[in-house]
Amino acid sequence: MTAQIIDGKALAADIRKDVATEIADRKQRGLRAPGLAVILVGDDAASEVYVRNKRQACEEVGILSAYHPLPASISEAEVKTLIERLNEDRTVDGILLQLPLPDHINSDTLIETIHPEKDVDGFHPYNLGRLAQRRPLLRPCTPLGVMTLLDNIQFQYKDKHAVIIGASNIVGRPMALELLLAGSTVTVCHRFTKNLAEFVKQADLVVSAVGKPELIKGDWIKLGATVIDVGIYRLKDGTLTGDVEYKIASERAAWITPVPGGVGPMTVATLLKNTLSAALLKDSV
Ligand code: GUN
Repeated sequence: MTAQIIDGKALAADIRKDVATEIADRKQRGLRAPGLAVILVGDDAASEVYVRNKRQACEEVGILSAYHPLPASISEAEVKTLIERLNEDRTVDGILLQLPLPDHINSDTLIETIHPEKDVDGFHPYNLGRLAQRRPLLRPCTPLGVMTLLDNIQFQYKDKHAVIIGASNIVGRPMALELLLAGSTVTVCHRFTKNLAEFVKQADLVVSAVGKPELIKGDWIKLGATVIDVGIYRLKDGTLTGDVEYKIASERAAWITPVPGGVGPMTVATLLKNTLSAALLKDSV
């Protein structure tokens, strides 16, 4: 078997085009462009790249992005004050606080400071609670992007065993809630799981979000499974790789995401969609 490749880059481009069309249409109707405030604390190189990509994508679709780069030495109270100001700002529909934050800053406190209606990352306990209770509003971008990829290949969720590897607040946990909502039987594996291979071998759907190159061996993949690789890691020679041993896995899976060009572009496209949704929510009240 040779897996079909799930082209996240192409689907993300389609989504960006749709968002751009909807924003242009809004402006024609005299409505303002959605606004996204982007907060980056410190100078983490990977975060700088992610933030640059997100801001560039905003510009491309007509979302106004206001950038707030802050020094690593800033206090938690000062970032909190900024978020409170952005919560009150009518031109700001979404607030994105890029993670991770420096060690002296408590990210939970700051995430809870963001108004849930502006929480375009979907990380606020209110939004995660809504997702857990099957009444989602704003939903975390990477898991929702994965669902869009799966919908696009017409993945049949019901009666499928989904195995998620990684239990982070950003990907693994909300991914489990999304797949549960869609009707799959869900197992979440994490650092304390023994016999990871035994779980992966049973999976109709594998979603790996760890960030350890080739943690998931290709010969663990069940024949005909769907494999979503959220991990991204730069090897010493500069090449990017995911969590899954791609070559062997792609000889066993029915569908597989490449790294890069799979999940990554979908996260950014979903952020744009969430920002537009937040603006629409605000218009409707
Ligand atoms: N850091 C890694 N992924 C993400 C994300 O999706 N959103 C934010 N805010 N920070 C991240």
